[in-house]
Amino acid sequence: MEISMNINGKPITRDMEARTLLVHYIREDGDLRGTHWGCDTSNCGACVVWVDGTPVKSCTVLAASAAGHDITTVEGLEKDGTLDPIQQGFIECHGLQCGFCTPGMMMTGRWLLDNNPKPSEAEIRECISGQLCRCTGYKNIVESIQWAAEHPAGEEVSA
Ligand code: FES
Ligand code: FES
Repeated sequence: MEISMNINGKPITRDMEARTLLVHYIREDGDLRGTHWGCDTSNCGACVVWVDGTPVKSCTVLAASAAGHDITTVEGLEKDGTLDPIQQGFIECHGLQCGFCTPGMMMTGRWLLDNNPKPSEAEIRECISGQLCRCTGYKNIVESIQWAAEHPAGEEVSA
């Protein structure tokens, strides 16, 4: 079947099997590998993207269900060569080790700040509670999101 959607503002149309998951459509047909595929069982959250601005685990969504919708991936956060503050926050606060969970954490973190610009630590931890990180112990991920909340324009700070 032929499926069309907008990914990061660009229209894309591909012919595919009806069973294709959104995560595979994005990675293979959209050629955007920033969205990771970690478990396929809705546990890890590495595959989180936005569908019409709402975070979803893209391994739980058929690409056909997303037809005609606007998809945003981690690649879509950067604007005109400038990192989004959430991306910069992960750099400033060393919010990753292997980086596998990072795209999903960024998408959830950005969504949180768009809806709650000054979240408490508890609110951040609750918001990312559907996502797993095997490396960091979450402390630096929380600090990265806090950094982005404190630097909405993404300005650099000295170490
Ligand atoms: S790959 Fe989607 S939740 Fe793990
Ligand atoms: S940085 Fe490795 S899983 Fe999170």
